[in-house]
Amino acid sequence: MQARRYRPIPLVSLPQRAWPDQEITAAPIWCSVDLRDGNQALVEPMGSDRKLLLFETLVKMGFKEIEVGFPAASQTDFDFVRQLIEEHRIPADVTIQVLTQARESLINRTVEAVQGAPRVILHLYNSTSTLQRRVVFGLDQAAVLDLAIQGTQWVKQAAKALTGSQVTLEYSPESFTSTEVDYATEVCDAVIEAWAPAPGEKVILNLPATVEVTTPNRYADQIEYVHRNLRHRDQALISIHTHNDRGCSVAATELALLAGADRVEGTLFGNGERTGNVDVVTVALNLYTQGVDPGLDLSNLPALVKVAEHCNRLPVPARHPYAGELVFTAFSGSHQDAIRKGLEAMKQEKNPYWEVPYLPIDPADVGRQYEPIIRINSQSGKGGVAFLLEQDHGFAVPKALAQEFSQVVQRITDRTGEELSSDQVFETFEREYLSLGRFELTDYETHRLSREKCRMTATLLDRGTKVVIQAEGNGPIDAFLHAFQETFNLDVHVSDYSEHALGRGEGAEAIAYVMLRLADGSSRCGVGRHADILEASLQAVLSSANRLDDRSPVEDGSGLRTEAAS
Ligand code: KIV
Ligand code: ZN
Repeated sequence: MQARRYRPIPLVSLPQRAWPDQEITAAPIWCSVDLRDGNQALVEPMGSDRKLLLFETLVKMGFKEIEVGFPAASQTDFDFVRQLIEEHRIPADVTIQVLTQARESLINRTVEAVQGAPRVILHLYNSTSTLQRRVVFGLDQAAVLDLAIQGTQWVKQAAKALTGSQVTLEYSPESFTSTEVDYATEVCDAVIEAWAPAPGEKVILNLPATVEVTTPNRYADQIEYVHRNLRHRDQALISIHTHNDRGCSVAATELALLAGADRVEGTLFGNGERTGNVDVVTVALNLYTQGVDPGLDLSNLPALVKVAEHCNRLPVPARHPYAGELVFTAFSGSHQDAIRKGLEAMKQEKNPYWEVPYLPIDPADVGRQYEPIIRINSQSGKGGVAFLLEQDHGFAVPKALAQEFSQVVQRITDRTGEELSSDQVFETFEREYLSLGRFELTDYETHRLSREKCRMTATLLDRGTKVVIQAEGNGPIDAFLHAFQETFNLDVHVSDYSEHALGRGEGAEAIAYVMLRLADGSSRCGVGRHADILEASLQAVLSSANRLDDRSPVEDGSGLRTEAAS
């Protein structure tokens, strides 16, 4: 590695920069460049079907400015622009934008493509970068400035043919971030002068990080420099267009908005040249999570992902901000627990603000479901299984049971190294707590002897052999336990009991949870399910007793181990 082969771009002198103290309080003007910059970067560029689908999706999302192509460079793009215009597919509040280089023939062809469009942004660019002036064009600053002015004049001349169209000029000093900032500002002012916008009209000055070459704070300095030093600032809208070479395009865009930019160009999920354009979905949702309405409809991200993946033939990665398959999923036990408590607190407290640990946004706001938030693998804990059992299967298990059951689950996930689906977790739960074991209840009868006393007679199967047990207690469960203890010579007592209904109305069942503690301090939980609450409770006692047997999860030498079961 030879870091000395590289050097940072020169610092912009910007004493008393203002952007660090600013806040973004309103959405910028958005311009999608999916159909141009994004498309130019695809292995298989879009044909008209995919372009149309994407265009219509962008319109539905609320984009009012859409760069639809580079018509002088591609016949497909030319034909697509014609199709949009001739088939009247451009809504009244949407402006199409087309890109052109500063060459007269290309400008004329571009203008030909947009004939008949009600509103159009003609986007002219030429590279102003120090390096490209030297090694690509062999031109000095003055010659490149002349090219920008000349290009503007060609556009102005050609645009005269667009009678009936509302025409706006956009100018990009391409590779702006690698251009001397005072020189870029001079070029931008010269373009505005050459275009001479009518009163009230503005030129869009798009200041691209064509290649991201510096830290976001330096980009913000560059933008604030232009914002403060442009002589014709009142006749300009400052647009930003960042690429993601250093992985900082979202941050650069946000800081540039603080620095005075009015408009953002980007693509859905960041498709674009090399590492991509800035992801407008992320920028917009970042605003949203700060309480700022982004003015784009992002309420169904899964559908948007589908369209983008279909049109670009590129996947949106599982960890992609907001949109990735896994970004609302917690595998870690402590995160699961905190999320579960946070969701519960949201319900209890009726908090108007979304405040859930580890979830910066409510997944439902972007069309995602709660169910994949908690997924179970070997990293998961009691909070996760409890969440799934309650949310997906209606079992509000007590803490002790969640703790015990999570060990059962963990042993499986440790052994397989794989994830368990919610259904697999529930099957494991049923197998562990609700399936038949050594003891089975076949019948029971209670007799109230006094207000405080009752007698219980129950018929059990002990590994298939009928056993009748009987005892008294201060309630039916107490009496059943006494009978069970006496018959099987066991020193156990109930240390935890709870119950709830499963379902509603006539078909509702009772669910009972019991924890039995043995004299040696070991314990087992049990679960019973029945239409009758007492029977559910008795079954819970037997479920717990069955688990004191060898199938039980924790090796603690409890009393009911038998040959048959081992
Ligand atoms: O990245 C870039 O500089 C561009 C320009 C054409 C605006 O895409
Ligand atoms: Zn670009």
